[in-house]
Amino acid sequence: MTPTPHTIAVLGGTGAEGSGLALRLAHAGHRVIIGSRDAAKSAQVCAELAALSPGAKLEAAGNRDAAAAAQIAILTVPHSVQQATALDLREQLAGKILIDATVPLVPPKVARVQLPEGGSAVAALQKLLGESVRVVAAFQNVSAHHLRDLTHSVDCDVLVCGDDIPARETVIGLVRDVGLRGVHAGPIANAAAAEALTSVLIAINIRYKVPGTGIRITGLPD
Ligand SMILES: NC(=O)c1ccc[n+]([C@@H]2O[C@H](COP(=O)([O-])OP(=O)(O)OC[C@H]3O[C@@H](n4cnc5c(N)ncnc54)[C@H](OP(=O)(O)O)[C@@H]3O)[C@@H](O)[C@H]2O)c1
Repeated sequence: MTPTPHTIAVLGGTGAEGSGLALRLAHAGHRVIIGSRDAAKSAQVCAELAALSPGAKLEAAGNRDAAAAAQIAILTVPHSVQQATALDLREQLAGKILIDATVPLVPPKVARVQLPEGGSAVAALQKLLGESVRVVAAFQNVSAHHLRDLTHSVDCDVLVCGDDIPARETVIGLVRDVGLRGVHAGPIANAAAAEALTSVLIAINIRYKVPGTGIRITGLPD
């Protein structure tokens, strides 16, 4: 159980990545609101996740209500709608931490690094939202594949980038609650490296015919 439970909205929480993170955060004792554009879809995913972790505090809502009710939000939508989705919720997100897990993959060549002009999609989002929303990049390199299986320990580290160090610290705590190790990886501009790494990992997955490789940072104290 986490010592500091938060109310967390997962925006686009009905997808593979968002629902997996939502499950693990709720299982750790946080109150998690699954946000969606579609209330019925959100309620269905919420019921599926609740069955996997009886007693977990899981709720369903529209993205707007979820963002308004939460202290911390996680954005897990396709990159093509990352900016529009967050901009639409700017008012509800003001004063809060927004964890952005989106990766600027460009289908069909998702195994090729194709970062947007300016380098990082997450850094561009921070610029767009302004200082009232503290954007922290995390989870870009965590494959959704095993997240919904609570018996499976996910074998990887999480690079955590953001300009606000206390916000990064909070996110590292949430990463720990998910069962992973978060690593301070510098300012939001450094998220370009995490975004690029996802395509590298996809290329490795394809070459070695495995579902979800991850990264480890070596040389840190235990
Ligand atoms: N899958 C992974 O292994 C993985 C790993 C690391 C990072 N990521 C990143 O995490 C993000 C989510 O990945 P995912 O695989 O979970 O994606 P996904 O299943 O394709 O989409 C997630 C959710 O985004 C919402 N969405 C889809 N189209 C939308 C639109 N036009 N406008 C607003 N919302 C829309 C949907 O929720 P509603 O229909 O309920 O609104 C959907 O369930 C992506 O940016 C991805 O690059 C994924």
